[in-house]
Order: sequence, then C-alpha cells, then structure tokens
Amino acid sequence: MMKDKDFKKLVSELSEGIVIMDSNRRIIYINEQSLRITGWQVGESVPYCSYCQLRQVDEDEERCILANENPLASFRSHMPNYVNTETDFEMSMKKHELDGQVYQVLMIKNPSHNNHDETVKMQELLIQETMLAQESERKRIAMELHDHIGQSVYSIYLGLDGIKRHVQDPEYHEKLEKMNVMMEQTLHCLKRLTKELRPRLFDNLGFETALRSAVEDWQHLYKADFSLTMNIPHDLKLEKEEGLHIFRIIQEAVNNAIRHGKATKIKIEIYTIDQVLYFQISDNGLGFDLDSINGNGVGLKHMKERVKMFNGDIKWISQNGQSTRIEGYITIEKGEEH
Ligand SMILES: Nc1ncnc2c1ncn2[C@@H]1O[C@H](COP(=O)(O)OP(=O)(O)OP(=O)(O)O)[C@@H](O)[C@H]1O
Ligand SMILES: [Mg+2]
Repeated sequence: MMKDKDFKKLVSELSEGIVIMDSNRRIIYINEQSLRITGWQVGESVPYCSYCQLRQVDEDEERCILANENPLASFRSHMPNYVNTETDFEMSMKKHELDGQVYQVLMIKNPSHNNHDETVKMQELLIQETMLAQESERKRIAMELHDHIGQSVYSIYLGLDGIKRHVQDPEYHEKLEKMNVMMEQTLHCLKRLTKELRPRLFDNLGFETALRSAVEDWQHLYKADFSLTMNIPHDLKLEKEEGLHIFRIIQEAVNNAIRHGKATKIKIEIYTIDQVLYFQISDNGLGFDLDSINGNGVGLKHMKERVKMFNGDIKWISQNGQSTRIEGYITIEKGEEH
C-alpha cells in the first residue's frame, strides 16, 4: 500500500493543477502546481470564473458551469487569482462522494503550458493549410499546363508536320524535321510535368493504379530499379485525400533517394492491418546523418505533417554512407457504410 505522505507528494508534483474542495467550494487540498498559478490557500473559497460570475442561472441551479449535472468536459475562462490576473485557465471538474461527503475536484491546466501547446498546434495547422493550398495550386497549374499550353504546343506540332510535307528544299526540310523532334520532346516534358503535379489517375482510378503507374514512370525517368509491393484489401477504401498524401510522401522519398542518395535501388512496401496503413521506402543510396540536416529543405517536414493529419507517424533510419529506410503509418478513417 502506498503511504499517505507518498501519495500526497506524487499528486503535489503533477503537471496539472489539482484543487479539492467541499460542496461549498471551500478548499480542502491544493497541490503545488495550482498554488503556483492561482495563489489560493486551503480554507479559502474557490472564486467563480469571470464567465460564471455573469451567467444567468435559475434559483436552484449551480452557478459554476463545471458543477452542472452534465458538465462540459473542460472549459476555458479567466479566474480571479493572486498571481497573474491576465491569464485564462483551462479547467475541468469532477464530483466525488466519499462517506456521504461531496468533494469537487478541480483540475487546472498550466496556462503557460497551454500557450506553448497552442502555438505548436497553430504552427501545425498553418503548415497543413499551406500544404492544402499547395495541392490546389498544383492542380490549377497542372490543368493550365495540360489544357492550355499542352493544347497549343500540340497544334503547333501538327501545323509544322503539315508544312513539312509541302517543303521540298532538303535544307529547310531538315530544319523542320529537327523542330518537329524538339516539339515532340516538349510535349513529352509537359506530359510528365502535368503528371508529377497532379497524378491525373487519382481522379478516376484511385491510389493503387496511380502509384503503380507513377512507379513505371520513375523507373524510366531515373534509371533506378524500383520494386513495389502493395497489400491493401479491396474492401478497405482509401479516401482520395489519404491516397494523395501517401502518394506525395512516396514521391518525396523517391526524389530524395535519387537526388541526395544517388540510389540505384528503391523498394516501396505498403500494407494494412485493420484500419492502419503502413509504408516503408528503402533505398541503397548514400544515406545521411539525421542530426546534421541543415534546415533549408521542407520535404521531411511536410512528410511528417502529412502523416500527422491522419494520426500517424514517420521515422527515418539512416546514417552517412549507409542505406536509408523510411517507416511510417497513417490511420484510415472508416468509410460510410452503404
Ligand atoms: N534518401 C536520402 N538519402 C540521402 N540523403 C537524404 C535522403 N533523404 C533526405 N536526405 C537528406 O536530408 C535533407 C533534407 O531533406 P528534405 O527533403 O527535407 O530537403 P531537400 O530535399 O534538401 O529540399 P526540398 O525537399 O525542400 O526540395 C536533404 O538535403 C538530404 O541531405
Ligand atoms: Mg526533398
């Protein structure tokens, strides 16, 4: 059995503030953390927060919004205190009955802690928003490239081909022939760029087909050996969003392996267990030291943010001069049952 003294020490050192009061809000116990952020003392009454002081209540209704029959899980408001009158507290409360006596346990989150958490959350949201904006901008550029520039270049190509047939002079004929080849290459480039910006297959055929087709393209483009193993049950439907994010992660991993690692072999594995999709991308390239990355690139950061959006995680296993392996997972939302 834990001694009373040890138990109190443990509670007093929690990072959350704990205040135990009786049914009249008189403080019976206050831990270190609460004391530090409120300055309240045992024997005093816990004041009402600014919101509850002003709120309209019926005669026999509890004034404290957290002491109601069906209390909110947590509430954020300004609390009168002796330490820092400018701070909002995040609070939650639970009622307990012991030996016929009602106790109310108030939990207070350290506001400075909160501020830090919120700044981190805001930064994450901002990155996610930026990525979504980037995705829709890519889509717009891809459409513009395909529908506008692509069509014009194709018309010029056809026009040149028509003219070429009427030109007899061998010198001009040869010039036109060269221009034709250049036009063909330009069309090819445009097509590749459009695909990279927005794998069009996503809109029609879904993740698996899009990824298989992209791997084929990379195989030709990069002259590296790719192996792709995918094991996703048919009844597990990936949302377009989830698929696109996993695709972008793999695309970035492949780009990094080729660009930085000079890899000649890249292995991609994707499989699911229940509602979790796991992925692994390994390359036989030059590797890198995770601690000595300079902060200019955004690729790794975006990969982390993408998995976070789906309650996932990602890690890199690499060292200078050794191969690189990326392991990660995302949680798949259960689709609507039809
Ligand atoms: N597979 C890999 N092999 C070798 N080095 C890698 C690999 N992946 C990442 N790196 C190293 O990690 C660094 C950071 O990668 P990150 O993708 O974040 O940035 P970047 O590729 O340099 O730029 P960006 O992706 O923004 O165009 C790279 O510059 C490279 O040094
Ligand atoms: Mg990169």
